[in-house]
Amino acid sequence: MKTNNFSGPPPEHIAFIMDGNGRWAKKRGLPRTAGHKEGAKVLRRVIRDLDDIGVKYATFYAFSTENWKRSDDEVSALMKLLEDNLDDLVNYEKENIRLRFIGGRERLSEVLQKKMADAEKKSLDHTGMTVTLAINYGGRDDIVRAAKKASELVSEGFLKPDDLDEAAFEKLLQTEDIPPVDLMVRTGGELRISNFLIWQISYAELYFTDTLWCDFSKSDLMKAVDSFSSRNRRFGDAK
Ligand code: FPP
Repeated sequence: MKTNNFSGPPPEHIAFIMDGNGRWAKKRGLPRTAGHKEGAKVLRRVIRDLDDIGVKYATFYAFSTENWKRSDDEVSALMKLLEDNLDDLVNYEKENIRLRFIGGRERLSEVLQKKMADAEKKSLDHTGMTVTLAINYGGRDDIVRAAKKASELVSEGFLKPDDLDEAAFEKLLQTEDIPPVDLMVRTGGELRISNFLIWQISYAELYFTDTLWCDFSKSDLMKAVDSFSSRNRRFGDAK
């Protein structure tokens, strides 16, 4: 049963920057990678909580184009976590979730690329929530890739430069088939966007919490959604 007790409708699309795994682990005297493992469990639970409150689209920043700068050990651990647990991380079969991925795949291992493609194919017709994992994703990279596609379409004669408006450009982004972000949540206390979905959050409400991702509970999620529901979204209008 859906448990939506908010003052307004829940956001259709929530994006999450899952920050603070390293600090969570450090506080417990554990390696950073233990924080990512715990973070993966929280991700799975948050997906269930989102479904419960009626959110239709959720996008998670799992690995950014900048995360390659981390130590080899940490990068390998994150990649292994994805390779070994992709099917488990998002319980898409049982929960009727349509799973998709954004980000450049060419730098990922063949094993991971294959698992991603299989999961997308298997879950394509699922009618529940759409969950998008951003892996090797950067907002600027997304825009540059779209600009390249646009220039190819123009040079091949499929697109006239005058027909390239915002709506047409949006369809060339990797998020082509999902609506713009309504609410972006960042855990872990930092107040920045870190190159996540920079086009897609143009009119999103932003919510920052000091809670570390591994401690992010259903009640923290409710607080974020409640805050969203109480805001007056004007989309540039004067009302
Ligand atoms: C940021 O915390 C978190 C990440 C870079 C990875 C997020 C990954 C998960 C939640 C696990 C699920 C996803 C995968 C890839 C399996 P941080 O390490 O920057 O934490 P800190 O700010 O405390 O150092």
